[in-house]
This record gives sequence, structure tokens and C-alpha cells, in this order.
Amino acid sequence: MIIAVDGPAASGKGTIARALATHYKLPHLDTGLLYRAVALNLLRWGGDPESEFAAVRATDFSQIDFDDPELKSEAVGGIASRISVYPAVREALVKRQTDFAAQTGGAVLDGRDIGTVIVPWANAKLFVTATPEIRAERRFAELKRLGIAAHYEDVLIDIQARDDRDSNRSAAPLIMAADADLLDTSDMSIDAAVQRAIALVEARLECSA
Ligand code: DC
Repeated sequence: MIIAVDGPAASGKGTIARALATHYKLPHLDTGLLYRAVALNLLRWGGDPESEFAAVRATDFSQIDFDDPELKSEAVGGIASRISVYPAVREALVKRQTDFAAQTGGAVLDGRDIGTVIVPWANAKLFVTATPEIRAERRFAELKRLGIAAHYEDVLIDIQARDDRDSNRSAAPLIMAADADLLDTSDMSIDAAVQRAIALVEARLECSA
């Protein structure tokens, strides 16, 4: 079984994807980490994010440790969003994702284009979202928890810029697949969102049984 979970930054899609993977005992891939690895590589080389050529070179990230906390930083996330507009960068990352999805037994993948481009044949697709203000509040609380100084207004501006770039790029933009289920987590606790996600997947499985 393949489950595709897409949605904007800080929507809760990663938490939901991880919970679904645990529930269904499936391996999970956070595809945002691949784009973040390219961004971190570029940052370390001093490459220019405005150059598609440099960004493609940075897709050779065999030296990146996927447990490196820097991958999760706001700076790396911002560069990841910028380099993810390049079709050649996206192309270089496709095989890793389709190979992961093709594992025996299936997988859960989360990102922006999983249900539309990477595995449009997924058995269940969720599009997880929340208002920009709620997402900014969550991100702000997370930064505070990590002891990183930030202003709520700056976090909101950053989220809106990221939404705009991810949704309006021409290569694999962030859009809800026609056959995805919408899960708006704005007014939901994490537990409630996870329970709803499981119920939506179950309903899809029943439909296709
Ligand atoms: O989910 P995230 O915040 O870790 O993703 C970082 C950036 O990577 C995001 O702003 C856009 C890009 N991305 C993408 O274009 N396609 C994906 N499947 C996953 C992430």
C-alpha cells in the first residue's frame, strides 16, 4: 500500500505521515529532506541558489548526514524552497522517491508533489493543510521550544513566501490531486488529526477493496 501525504510547510503533514507509517507498519520518507539536503550541500559549498547549474551539482549529496539538525533549520528550508523550482533538480531526485515507494509492502511518502507527480497511483492521498496563521503559530512555538529567537510576524511572512513559491512554480507545484482527501488541521489536535487521517485512508482502502 502506498500513501501519499502532501501539503504546505508546517501543516502537520510530517507528523501525520509518520503516524500513518507507524500505524500501518510501513517505511516512511520525508521527501522535503531530499530538497533540504541539496540546499545544505549548496550552502556548504558556497554555491548560488539562483543558479540552476549549481543546484543540480548539489544533488550529489552522498556526504550529507540525514540526522544533521541543520537540515531542519529555517535557512536551509528557505533555500530548499528556492532550489525546488528547478525542473532539473526535481528530476535528479525522482528516482530515489519512486524507488522508495516501490518497496515490497509499500510506503508512506510526504512532500508537495507525491500524489500528483511521484506516485499518482498511490492507494490513498491526503492533502494536509491549515491556515497560514495557525501554521506560523506552530512553527513559532517549535522555534521557541528549540531556543531559537524569532518573531511571529517574520515566521508568518516566511510561511507565506514559501507557500507562494511552492504553489506557483511551474515544475510540480503544490496542488491537491483531484483524487486526494483534504485534511484541514487548523482546529484539530495532533491526535484528532491522526485519527482523521487513519479514517480517511481506511475509507479509501474500503473503496478500492
Ligand atoms: O517539507 P519541507 O518544509 O521540509 O520542504 C522544504 C522545501 O522542499 C519546500 O519548501 C519545497 C521543497 N519540496 C518540494 O518541492 N517537493 C517535495 N516533495 C518536498 C519538498
